Amino acid sequence: MKILVTGGLGYIGSHTVVELQAAGLEVVIVDNLSNSHIEVLNKIEKISGIRPSFSKLDLADRDSCSNFFKGEKAISGIIHFAAYKAVGESVKEPLKYYHNNLDSLINVLENMKTYHIPNLVFSSSCTVYGQPDKLPVTEQAPRKPALSPYGNTKQMAEDIIRDTVYASAIKSIALRYFNPVGAHYSALIGELPLGVPNNLLPFITQTASGIREQLSVFGSDYNTPDGTAIRDYIHVVDLAKAHVVAVKRMLNDKSKSNYEIFNIGTGNGYSVLEVIKSFEKVSKLKLNYKIVGRREGDIEKVWADTSFANKELGWKAQKTLDEMTLSAWRFQQQLSKNMK
Ligand code: NAD
Ligand code: WQD
Repeated sequence: MKILVTGGLGYIGSHTVVELQAAGLEVVIVDNLSNSHIEVLNKIEKISGIRPSFSKLDLADRDSCSNFFKGEKAISGIIHFAAYKAVGESVKEPLKYYHNNLDSLINVLENMKTYHIPNLVFSSSCTVYGQPDKLPVTEQAPRKPALSPYGNTKQMAEDIIRDTVYASAIKSIALRYFNPVGAHYSALIGELPLGVPNNLLPFITQTASGIREQLSVFGSDYNTPDGTAIRDYIHVVDLAKAHVVAVKRMLNDKSKSNYEIFNIGTGNGYSVLEVIKSFEKVSKLKLNYKIVGRREGDIEKVWADTSFANKELGWKAQKTLDEMTLSAWRFQQQLSKNMK
């Protein structure tokens, strides 16, 4: 079975490729390297012993996308990661986000129809829930108006997929990820943010390794036990495994409907200070941080109800917060070593 992984050299995509290969699936990667490096292909090969086939192309470009599909036969399923994901940048450059994230999806769907490719796994996000009224949040919770163009592309993409599935033979599973963190235990692949990281874990590890001076903790006056905001952090390897389960569910015709949505988190919420404490414990370092004001657009707390994914997919996140922070730290140490 051949699986096309778009954005397969990126953070979540690369970990998913490794898990797909471990499950015996053949992988074809498409990536335009707009937020990833070609060396990741070597790292994947080093981990799994298999070099996936790779094409560098922009999926948002209609002609390049069709040419690729014309030449690539017998794809059984697609996992579509390719998108831009920087929330702040999307506010400043909304058209860049609408163009890339939506045109690439539409081009992929059009080619799925043309070449009768039946199965699509889509990277959605817990961002579609905004601040939920009830916690833990279930898949039935209403989506809230998006707080950024990036968030809006995820809502719009879900709707585009729902409507396309309704009108065609395509089946899809949208996975709503909570907060992916950590790295592969080999420390060969992990998150490689360009420039100053926006996300908490890369900022922590870069501060600990001296690249950043100090971590700012955004807000200590939230209605949470220690006043800092709560998220459902999930180890990227657990998340990668959820994709293998989802794609196999479709390949084996086990979907209960042609469009399914699953929350992919651990079901546990941790505050920013709890993440810092975990990092300090596993790294045996003292982190330089200070409490500052809230970050605009941040929500107070969110964590997943994962019972639907646990029951229906037979998948459950296994890794602890300490494993997440330790693997992120080992990856950063490896990067720093390679820079010397
Ligand atoms: P990433 O930036 O590391 O990976 C995305 C990959 O897609 C990159 O390698 C990039 O070069 C590629 N790409 C982007 N536009 C492309 C295009 N037009 N054509 C071909 N390749 C293109 O991001 P990630 O963290 O691995 O995220 C993967 C997916 O998961 C994205 O859709 C993202 O929105 C979604 N997601 C991420 C998070 C998160 O916190 N990381 C949370 C929820 C959802
Ligand atoms: C986590 C917590 C921050 C940095 C983002 C996107 C979301 C999804 C996942 C894609 C928050 C706090 C952070 C820092 C801090 N991506 N923090 N100091 O904001 O939950 O979600 O990534 O779909 O759409 O918005 O993740 O890692 O940025 O923040 O105190 O330097 O850490 O305030 O409470 P977030 P994050």
